Amino acid sequence: MTPDTVRVRRNEEIDRVNPEIHGHFAEHLGRCVYGGIWVGDDDRVPTTDGIREDTVELLSDLGVHQLRWPGGCFADAYHWRDGVGPREERPRRTNDFWAQGREEAFVESNAFGTEEFVRLCELVDAEPFLAANVGSGDPREASDWVEYCNRDDDTTLARERAENGSEEPHDVTYWGVGNENWGCGGQFDPETYADEFRRFAHFMRLRGAEETIACGHIDEDWNRRFLAELTEPDLMDHLSIHRYFGRWDGDCGSATEFDEEQYYLLFAESLKVGRQIDSAAAAIDTYASTDDVGIAVDEWGAWHPEAASENGLEQENSVRDAVAAAGVLDDFTHRADLVSMANLAQTVNVLQCVVQTDEEAAWPTPTYRVLDLYSPHVGATAVRTAVETDEIETDLWDVPLVSASATHDEEGTYVTLSNRSLDEERSVAVAVEGEVGGATGEVLFADSDPADYSTRENAAEFASTDLDVSTEDGTPVVDLPANSVAGLSVESA
Ligand code: AHR
Repeated sequence: MTPDTVRVRRNEEIDRVNPEIHGHFAEHLGRCVYGGIWVGDDDRVPTTDGIREDTVELLSDLGVHQLRWPGGCFADAYHWRDGVGPREERPRRTNDFWAQGREEAFVESNAFGTEEFVRLCELVDAEPFLAANVGSGDPREASDWVEYCNRDDDTTLARERAENGSEEPHDVTYWGVGNENWGCGGQFDPETYADEFRRFAHFMRLRGAEETIACGHIDEDWNRRFLAELTEPDLMDHLSIHRYFGRWDGDCGSATEFDEEQYYLLFAESLKVGRQIDSAAAAIDTYASTDDVGIAVDEWGAWHPEAASENGLEQENSVRDAVAAAGVLDDFTHRADLVSMANLAQTVNVLQCVVQTDEEAAWPTPTYRVLDLYSPHVGATAVRTAVETDEIETDLWDVPLVSASATHDEEGTYVTLSNRSLDEERSVAVAVEGEVGGATGEVLFADSDPADYSTRENAAEFASTDLDVSTEDGTPVVDLPANSVAGLSVESA
């Protein structure tokens, strides 16, 4: 069989892969924050200041880099003052967006607020990313939050933070100005949101919001209308886009049940993430510059029909989803010059989470394994890659059977590869430009089926195993099992 070929053009550098691209998102939704991260005084699992140590350990080992909170749709109904001060005095509120059908999540206790979130970020060594309330809040509330978190001056809000246990400022760099403000975040048209964004960002900046994230849309026209109206692009450091794949645009089956057509359609849909980045970049370059405004893909991942409000957006975490995530991470690496940050939705228990929990334990999902395998890309320099492989036709567009991306640093070149074929092993030659030394590899899911999913009992079975690397005329060649993901380290000569 003639192998597929991945050509790695080491001399064509794209940009550094910002660590923030491997970020995560935690919303007050179902069992993500309450149960998955925060258990307070519940002593069934060991905690640090009410935060689960098992979840923290997994996240720290993975590297979270940047964590977005408190939403999501929840952000535009959240009033930060509800979540600071003595916990027993905090108001109990309805969770306006994610209450449906879940008795236990109907009341938001506000036990997990700003101080608890920042503590979590310290424990997992992540940059905090706070999403301010535009939809039902005002610029004063948002800029007061910035002051509470970031100011060192002797102001009432800085004193209040000190009384709440944090003498030193939290130094929050990333500030979202609302979330999906074209929908759950206030139903704004792009022109009205541009006016609101200008007002909020202006006052938030005055109090110390270093980097702001504006809400964008999957629709390029919406982004163009917003950018045309904004007139002050300097107020915006990142434009956010969200892209879920699975339930939204076609029938991809469920997380664990799909036929061949549905299997490939999920991959076709996941390719939309890259296309959407390109479309947002084209819009930005018309009105500002992608050198100054990064694209924040601050929600992305697989979302299957069974993940509904009623079950707190929970779904099984399957191998197919994890392999799809690998392709999306490759697409981020290819666009390291455009993507400034990205947040997989959502960290624990919800949607395409990396950690799942029950009342006694936490365990990693197959997607966790993929992010872990991709971690050598973090902070390295992305280089151009070209993949020669077969394609599968779908209702949307053709899906290349092999996905790949590469980065390099002084030690060598790191190449990630995935085989999206449902049932065929693929032999792949990895042709790295110039003189190279030896290569070693690891592979995920060699013995799994695409519909396999993680449980507390089987989670260890998704760990990586060694991958044999042969050499043909000096070029490393690997055999990738069907529906698998690999990482190849190629030494510099
Ligand atoms: O992640 C679940 C929801 O998806 C978020 O709250 C919202 O921003 C998006 O529509």
